[in-house]
Amino acid sequence: MRVFHAKISRRSSSERTDMDLEKIHAWLKPRLSEERYLHSLGTEETARELASMFSVDAQKAALTGLIHDNAKNIPYEEMLAVIKENNFDIEEEIRNNKKILHAYLGAYLARKELNIEDREILDGIKFHTTGKPDMSVFEKIIFISDKIEANTRDLDYRCAVLNIINESKNLDKAVLYCVENTIKSLLERKLPINPITIDVWNYYLPRAIG
Ligand SMILES: [Fe+2]
Ligand SMILES: [Fe+2]
Repeated sequence: MRVFHAKISRRSSSERTDMDLEKIHAWLKPRLSEERYLHSLGTEETARELASMFSVDAQKAALTGLIHDNAKNIPYEEMLAVIKENNFDIEEEIRNNKKILHAYLGAYLARKELNIEDREILDGIKFHTTGKPDMSVFEKIIFISDKIEANTRDLDYRCAVLNIINESKNLDKAVLYCVENTIKSLLERKLPINPITIDVWNYYLPRAIG
């Protein structure tokens, strides 16, 4: 596994950027399986690269990419228990969908345990799985980085998305490509499609093609 030496600068605009990334790695690692941790390191790196390309806060993006899946390996029953204990107001549709629920819970835990109040970081985590209509550039970068990071994701898929970004400089096209891929995969596996995914498709389709 790659050793990570970078630290978040105190000069960055993000409120938590003085937090030592090493400490966050130490907080995160025991929560995740080895593969999920590797995926998180990959997402951190891709988020940093895309953020630099699109002139958004690269250190903040790297931090968000790193911790986006912090709740991914919590057993579903435990997730439900945390939601109940904390009186979370989560729509039934989200509560019943473990794939999406880890993102909502991950945002909650980042706030509670790392004291992160930055709305863009929290929403980046919350919507990393589904995306949402009208994402900020920052949120799109987190959404895409999760899908194409280099450590555990399919290389052809990563290259296809990076080609779209490099050629068009249009993140909406890349988001649409990722959503299309997700929808195809859900259809092939006969799995339900969350309405948010449909909303995201409908929102980005005219923006990516128009
Ligand atoms: Fe995730
Ligand atoms: Fe992820």
